[in-house]
Amino acid sequence: MSDSLTCVSTPSLADLPIRRLTPRDLIACADLSQDRGWPREEHKWGLLLAAGKGYGIDDPHGGLVSACVVTQYGTEYRPDLSAIGMVLVAERHARQGVGRRLMRHVVAESGATATPLTLYATPHGRPLYEGLGFKVTGSAEMVRGRFTPDGAASGVATRAATGEDLAALVRLDAEVFGADRTHVITRLPAFADQLRVAEENGRIIGYAAAWPNMDTHVVGPLIARDTETAKALIASLAAHTSRPLRTDVDVRHEELLSWLKERGLASVGFNAVMTHGIPDLPGDWTRRFAPVTVAAG
Ligand SMILES: CC(C)(COP(=O)(O)OP(=O)(O)OC[C@H]1O[C@@H](n2cnc3c(N)ncnc32)[C@H](O)[C@@H]1OP(=O)(O)O)[C@@H](O)C(=O)NCCC(=O)NCCS
Repeated sequence: MSDSLTCVSTPSLADLPIRRLTPRDLIACADLSQDRGWPREEHKWGLLLAAGKGYGIDDPHGGLVSACVVTQYGTEYRPDLSAIGMVLVAERHARQGVGRRLMRHVVAESGATATPLTLYATPHGRPLYEGLGFKVTGSAEMVRGRFTPDGAASGVATRAATGEDLAALVRLDAEVFGADRTHVITRLPAFADQLRVAEENGRIIGYAAAWPNMDTHVVGPLIARDTETAKALIASLAAHTSRPLRTDVDVRHEELLSWLKERGLASVGFNAVMTHGIPDLPGDWTRRFAPVTVAAG
């Protein structure tokens, strides 16, 4: 009796289907991050896969070939804006057109509902997005380090947010961000270790969260009436953590960036803010200091 050998051909990369990812894919997504030399960031993937729509390509040999997450803002059936993040292709499949195919798919899906797109591009990802018609509209500087307080009393009062504040936060956030982010903001009390508000005469004039990411606390979102309010919120978050802080500040907020650098945070790098289908982001950039995460806008 002779052995029979069954030969199963491996489909080419271009034939592998793109599927929706769910929170069950969290570990595979974190493995993919690690494969590219990024931190695993499981906590962040958890938020994004729950609040956003993940897209991915399965590797027939196990794991993911590629992944990305699209977080939609505004109404569900006609979003005002979608933010793309966590665009990753496994090292062993790089430079074979996978990233472009996945992004084309996402751009085509958003085109069906005429939804504008935005993303923060690393220098590595930028040529890919430019090729798909994304334009650079701004820049954010990532800063990281242990915050050293200066002891000076702030004129702005801050306190921990309570459940009763959520409706007001959602309203303020929509005004400043320019689209409704209820599904992300209402997840912040569980996702973040701290959620604080700044108040004046009983009115909320800003808010900020600090959420755990690897060994740091990421400050974001950071929404504030002015730079003094943003500073007070960061100082109050820093007072309640011993971890280094990390945040991604719109470079137009020069005063806040200088203040952070004077207090121990150092520049890690820059991400280009890009848009597709709109010339600029909606909302009020003067009160929008930092995103929840660059992966979700
Ligand atoms: C960026 C990334 C997603 C591209 O995926 P990919 O499947 O390798 O890219 P593609 O083969 O589809 O190439 C698309 C275009 O991207 C650009 N590109 C891809 N890899 C590049 C590299 N190493 N250096 C410079 N440009 C590159 C090129 O313009 C390329 O077009 P070309 O092949 O015609 O020159 C992938 O390299 C990756 O996961 N990088 C690490 C994570 C990252 O930086 N993600 C972007 C976050 S914004």
